[in-house]
Amino acid sequence: MAALPTTAIVGIVGAGAMGSGIAQVAAQAGHPVLLFDAFDGAAERGKAGIVAALAKLAAKGKLDAEQAAAIADRISVCGSLEQLAPCALVVEAIVEKPDVKHELFKALEAVTGADCILASNTSSLSLTALASVLKNPARMVGMHFFNPAPVMALVEVVKGLATPDDLARTIADTATAWGKAPVLCKSTPGFIVNRVARPFYAEGMRLAQEGAADIATIDAVIREAGQFRMGPFELTDMIGHDVNFAVTRSVHAAYFNDPRFLPNLLQQDLVEAGWLGKKTGRGFYDYADGAEKPQPATAAPCQAPTALDVLGDLGPASALADLAAKAGMTLARMGGAGMIDLHGVTLMLTDGRTASEVAAVTGIGDLVVFDLALDWCAAKRIAIAPAGQCSAIALQRAVGFFQALGLSVSIFADVPGLAVMRTIAMLANEAADTVYQGVASAGDIDLAMTKGVNYPLGPLAWAERVGLARLLTVLDNLARTYGEDRYRASAHLRRLVFAKGRFHD
Ligand code: NAI
Repeated sequence: MAALPTTAIVGIVGAGAMGSGIAQVAAQAGHPVLLFDAFDGAAERGKAGIVAALAKLAAKGKLDAEQAAAIADRISVCGSLEQLAPCALVVEAIVEKPDVKHELFKALEAVTGADCILASNTSSLSLTALASVLKNPARMVGMHFFNPAPVMALVEVVKGLATPDDLARTIADTATAWGKAPVLCKSTPGFIVNRVARPFYAEGMRLAQEGAADIATIDAVIREAGQFRMGPFELTDMIGHDVNFAVTRSVHAAYFNDPRFLPNLLQQDLVEAGWLGKKTGRGFYDYADGAEKPQPATAAPCQAPTALDVLGDLGPASALADLAAKAGMTLARMGGAGMIDLHGVTLMLTDGRTASEVAAVTGIGDLVVFDLALDWCAAKRIAIAPAGQCSAIALQRAVGFFQALGLSVSIFADVPGLAVMRTIAMLANEAADTVYQGVASAGDIDLAMTKGVNYPLGPLAWAERVGLARLLTVLDNLARTYGEDRYRASAHLRRLVFAKGRFHD
């Protein structure tokens, strides 16, 4: 089945932030749009907001004035639900309350034709449960836009138990025709993005709770080594802790309290204090006028070593050898377990063990572990952690090495997995289970995470870049170190490692 033709009338119920945005998207794609809201004046306000948004686009030269007027003309405000009778598709974007949505869908089924597709923009409710109130639940599908809908490309097309594949395909093709990037998923708690993204916030908060580093330092490492646009603390401050904590709690409860999704006490404290983030002037950070933004902890300049031995394969840190050679260091390659010997200190990419454990097992006391970077040439900062046995002079040598490669260095406490590696391992692990459980394909998950939450690389593609066996080792070490089920590795990941397979064919 192909996309709905642009002559198909699209109804939007709920003219708030999301409904107005979706109405604008459908009208910009050429559809006649009928906009309804139960509250007096809300649909008119919604349309006025769209007209203002179109005027802004025209002022920026992205539309000409005639196009803006034509788009606005295609949107009609309805005074009653009955006026949605001629629609081929109705997208619901009302308040997130199951009972209210149930009543609406029963009424929509009664007023629209039997062929009209009923879609919900819900971000947390089960499509299967929503459809259960319909006489024909096969009419129902999720069409989950991201905020702001006219800007964000991603649409999660969500299939309830009764949603036929061809209906989901029609909605996906329609979303493509509207200039969006659709992904298909089964209706499971959090769909793709709100499930797979949970470790991004959770691991950051765990690191802060465990005293790995302060929040500004963890944020800086996630941004400057991981190349995420924001770190977990600045991002949750922007989202709002009430919203982010509620999603975490609902996903945790919906997966029957699976410890993978365990909420964090630090965030609960913020919610209880009313420190909800930017919108209240205080969250993890203080946004009061004159409040100083804390700077990341950065090691003072240290002397660069002049020579290094690369012992074995450095895997995803291989580029460090070339960078060191470019920085003028004398380099020798020899066999070994994937370490860098700086003649006085040994460096190892984290494998999910603490530096102290590696030092104890290898007998190398002067040992420093370092974090993963997405791209060593683009990275600006790196987190490192010394073993408890490591001398101050050896640590300085390690710092000087990374500084000579142009990186700022943040010294973490000796936590397992550091920040970027641990975050990526857990994001990829959740994504692996999402594939394993048949919720979505690997390609759609990576697309969802890059388009929906702007990750620099999909977590599964990133896992392949790190190496699946290495990633599994990190997870197994985290699980053993913490003794928590939270870090259990996905059976899918383990199977792929044994089968030498890939997530992406
Ligand atoms: P909103 O509060 O801005 O707008 C909701 C609108 O629905 C209001 O104008 C309200 O008057 C209207 N409404 C409430 N009950 C109604 C009913 N029975 N019949 C007709 N209209 C009714 O809410 P927002 O943020 O636009 O969210 C709407 C839906 O979109 C929710 O299901 C939410 O989970 C989902 N969503 C929200 C996102 C966001 O970032 N705000 C992102 C993606 C999905």
